[in-house]
Amino acid sequence: MRSDSNPFSSTKHKHFFVKFAVSLLLIGLSFRLFVSDSISFSSVGETPAIEQATNTESPEANALSIEDKEPGSTDFAVNGSQIQFSNDSAPNRTQILETGECDLFIGDWIPDPSGPFYTNRSCLAIEGHQNCMKNGRPDTGYLYWRWNPVGCDLPRFNPKKFLDLMRNKSWAFIGDSISRNHVQSLLCILSQVEQADEMYHDKEYRSKIWHFPAHNFTLSVIWTPFLIKADVFDDMNGVSSSEVQLHLDVLDHKWTNEYRNFDYAVIAGGKWFLKTALYHENDSVTGCHHCPGKNLTELGFDHAYRKALRLIFDFITGSDHSSFIFFRTTTPDHFENGEWFSGGSCNRTVPSKEGEIDMRDVDITMRNIELEEFEKAAELGSGKGRF
Ligand SMILES: *[C@@H]1O[C@H](CO)[C@@H](O)[C@H](O)[C@H]1NC(C)=O
Ligand SMILES: *[C@@H]1O[C@H](CO)[C@@H](O)[C@H](O)[C@H]1NC(C)=O
Ligand SMILES: *[C@@H]1O[C@H](CO)[C@@H](O)[C@H](O)[C@H]1NC(C)=O
Ligand SMILES: *[C@@H]1O[C@H](CO)[C@@H](O)[C@H](O)[C@H]1NC(C)=O
Ligand SMILES: *[C@@H]1O[C@H](CO)[C@@H](O)[C@H](O)[C@H]1NC(C)=O
Ligand SMILES: *[C@@H]1O[C@H](CO)[C@@H](O)[C@H](O)[C@H]1NC(C)=O
Ligand SMILES: *[C@@H]1O[C@H](CO)[C@@H](O)[C@H](O)[C@H]1NC(C)=O
Ligand SMILES: *[C@@H]1O[C@H](CO)[C@@H](O)[C@H](O)[C@H]1NC(C)=O
Ligand SMILES: *[C@@H]1O[C@H](CO)[C@@H](O)[C@H](O)[C@H]1NC(C)=O
Repeated sequence: MRSDSNPFSSTKHKHFFVKFAVSLLLIGLSFRLFVSDSISFSSVGETPAIEQATNTESPEANALSIEDKEPGSTDFAVNGSQIQFSNDSAPNRTQILETGECDLFIGDWIPDPSGPFYTNRSCLAIEGHQNCMKNGRPDTGYLYWRWNPVGCDLPRFNPKKFLDLMRNKSWAFIGDSISRNHVQSLLCILSQVEQADEMYHDKEYRSKIWHFPAHNFTLSVIWTPFLIKADVFDDMNGVSSSEVQLHLDVLDHKWTNEYRNFDYAVIAGGKWFLKTALYHENDSVTGCHHCPGKNLTELGFDHAYRKALRLIFDFITGSDHSSFIFFRTTTPDHFENGEWFSGGSCNRTVPSKEGEIDMRDVDITMRNIELEEFEKAAELGSGKGRF
């Protein structure tokens, strides 16, 4: 693990991002590093590292096209001086400004008249159900924001520079639909410089590999929403015919078998652990989550998520493959006033301000597990110098 001066050093603050966001967030936070002259990123390529990305949102909302590039001025009524800050153990804004250090994960959404990178015309990776404008979303102001970390000037992502820097390298996004959104968004941006060839897809078109021939850059997405071995009985609409069988002591080989091929990987899970599931260890059922009538011990999703993360982090810290790993923490809810899967309202047109909404209990639980297990793994890893 790197030192405290690391701009990425783990932070415990709570950020809330609303669904207006395009899938650029993670890309904005991590990829911009690679094209930035003003942010030091010296550790790249030295040792493997697990980094913790902040909460991201944007389940199905990839950025879309707009003909009209005029931002709705009333959408931009953000006044930074009114934003409230929550207590936490992360360095606060004052500290950051005083030391001149830049923590990418502390900042604000600010208006960005330059608008989105791509439109639903210029990018073909936007799927029908993600095509907000085509599907009737009336407002466009949500496309005109960017993340602005306190104390540093984050330049706009430069796809040309990114591809040049990533020559002969490979990236993987490993996880659930949010990971898929991130890949799609990255593809949309990079396609302005070079069109990728699709080299592989699995039967369900959920895991894919693309190659950018002129840059010899390989990009993968691996569908593994639990990251550990799971038998899932969902149809294509996500309707389950039976509960998930989750093996808490076995990683999903879909990603571990490929792990050595990746120079960079963004790993993330979370929400799927809230599903009804039976838990297996040592080839026997040890309990379950949400399975009344089954005469099994309710172990809780937190039990499973913690075990899973330990297994995942142990694998990464124990691997002799040198890669740069970002761990993305779980997303907040996809809706307001509803469960992550069940709808609710989704009518925000501007980012929520810090402190304006609270995380739900399950999200807090999940996030705390992530932070605890990540820090444990980071400490372990530092001893061996490979984390
Ligand atoms: C922001 O709010 C503060 C205090 O409410 C006010 O003094 C300031 O003029 C506002 N700034 C803008 C740009 O609206
Ligand atoms: C923030 O910290 C202050 C002083 O330590 C405390 O009184 C307050 O309750 C805290 N607020 C939150 C939201 O934790
Ligand atoms: C932030 O840090 C500065 C410098 O250490 C300190 O004076 C200030 O009280 C802190 N503010 C909050 C809100 O914790
Ligand atoms: C793009 O969005 C516009 C609405 O802004 C819609 O009319 C058009 O059909 C969409 N085009 C594609 C290719 O999705
Ligand atoms: C990429 O790989 C090719 C072939 O191995 C090599 O000639 C070239 O120098 C490499 N470029 C970089 C930037 O590593
Ligand atoms: C492409 O990159 C791989 C490493 O990822 C390297 O082995 C290979 O030689 C490169 N090919 C070319 C044509 O540069
Ligand atoms: C599974 O087996 C291992 C080693 O045999 C043991 O340490 C562990 O406690 C077992 N776990 C459960 C849940 O029985
Ligand atoms: C529930 O499981 C326990 C322990 O496995 C067993 O003793 C008990 O008979 C079971 N109860 C029912 C109603 O099946
Ligand atoms: C969104 O919809 C909910 C429920 O209909 C309503 O209570 C809320 O005020 C709306 N929020 C905005 C920003 O329009």
